[in-house]
Parts: sequence; structure tokens; C-alpha cells
Amino acid sequence: MKTAYLPWRSAGAALALALCASATWAQAGGLKGAPAAFTAECTSCHIGYAPALAGEASWRGIMAGLDKHFGVDASMDEKAHQTITAWLVAHAAKGSRYAKPSADFRISTSAWFVRQHDEVGSKVWKRASIKSAANCGACHSGAARGDFDEDRVKIPQ
Ligand code: HEC
Ligand code: HEC
Repeated sequence: MKTAYLPWRSAGAALALALCASATWAQAGGLKGAPAAFTAECTSCHIGYAPALAGEASWRGIMAGLDKHFGVDASMDEKAHQTITAWLVAHAAKGSRYAKPSADFRISTSAWFVRQHDEVGSKVWKRASIKSAANCGACHSGAARGDFDEDRVKIPQ
């Protein structure tokens, strides 16, 4: 029984791993528990980017530069700033490829993002229906909930 049992066990472990991987973005990538300040200050110009999409260094970099935030002023009062920073950092990616910051702290220029999206051609990003790689919701209909499951990706024409 021993030789039959071991292969079954490793198949079970592999299945469990695969299930975890496919569920990652519906769960850890979510915006559950976002403070009201985040919803008020960080979801009016674009979707609220889920904290697990970047690491602590990125979120600190983004939060430190809000007065010059990709061409706009997104600054806010000190209390909101502290609340949002604490929540982003607490739920940031840790020790995974998502945690590595890009030079400009964008998610869309980070190494994992570029690799994950290498099948998207440079002309596709510029389509009027997409406009920017930062516009996650154009292709990920659940982006505003932090759902990036690859089974639900649809690139608009
Ligand atoms: C006044 C409008 C505005 C507000 C408010 C705002 N942003 Fe942004 N944000 C932008 C613009 C504009 C961009 C660049 C979008 C693009 O390149 O298409 C951007 C980009 C970003 C990006 C990079 C997206 C990428 O390319 O990966 C992150 C992360 C981000 N914002 C986080 C935040 C957070 C966190 C807050 C709240 C503290 C916030 N933003 C508030 C306008 C805003
Ligand atoms: C032009 C359409 C498009 C845009 C815009 C886009 N993505 Fe994607 N995304 C894709 C495609 C295509 C894939 C790969 C799906 C696959 O491998 O089958 C993908 C995959 C992903 C994955 C991996 C999903 C998984 O199950 O492993 C994540 C996470 C992700 N995108 C996040 C983002 C984020 C965050 C943004 C915005 C900053 C974004 N995407 C913007 C098209 C897009």
C-alpha cells in the first residue's frame, strides 16, 4: 500500500496547489476591508488597485508622491493618508514576485506585470477601448473588486 499511497498523496498536493493558484486573485487580490478613506480618496479617478498587486515599497512610494501623482494632484489630509498607507502596507504582497517594486512604483511597469501580459501586443494597449495598461477594468471585468482571474480576461476590440 505504501507505494500506491505516496503517489496519490503527491497528486493530491499538486491539485491543492493548483486550486490555490487559481483562487489567488479572487481572494488575496481583493479589496475586502478597505477603509472608507481608501474608497473616498483612491477610487474616484481609477479603480481601487488591490493592495496585494504590489509590495510595501511600491505603496510607500505611491503614497509619498501623491502631490505629483502621474500628472495629477491626489494629495489628502494627514489622517486619511495614514489610514490608507497602513491598510495598503498591511495587505501588500510579501515575499512573492508581486512584491518587487518598479522604478516609478506603478503596478503596470513591474516585472511580474510585464511578463504576465507579454501576450498583449503594444498596439492593443493603445486601443481607444483600453487607453492605458493602468486601465485594468478594460480587460478584467472584476478588477474593481480585485478579481484578476485569468479565466475571466476579455480583451476589447
Ligand atoms: C485625481 C485623480 C487620482 C486620484 C485621487 C488617485 N489617483 Fe492614482 N492615478 C491617477 C492617474 C491619472 C494615474 C495614471 C493612469 C494611467 O497611466 O493611465 C494613476 C495611477 C495610479 C497607479 C499606477 C497604476 C499603474 O499603471 O500600475 C497606482 C498604483 C495608483 N494610481 C494608486 C492610487 C492610490 C493608492 C490613490 C489614493 C491614495 C490614488 N491612486 C488616487 C489619478 C488619481
Ligand atoms: C489589454 C487587456 C489587459 C489589461 C488592460 C490588463 N490586463 Fe491583466 N491580463 C490580461 C491578459 C491577456 C492576461 C493573461 C491571461 C492568461 O494568461 O490567460 C492577464 C493576466 C493578469 C493577471 C494574472 C491572472 C492569473 O490568474 O494568473 C493579473 C494578476 C493581472 N492580469 C492583473 C492586471 C492588473 C493589475 C491590471 C491593471 C494595472 C491589468 N491586469 C490590466 C489582459 C489585461
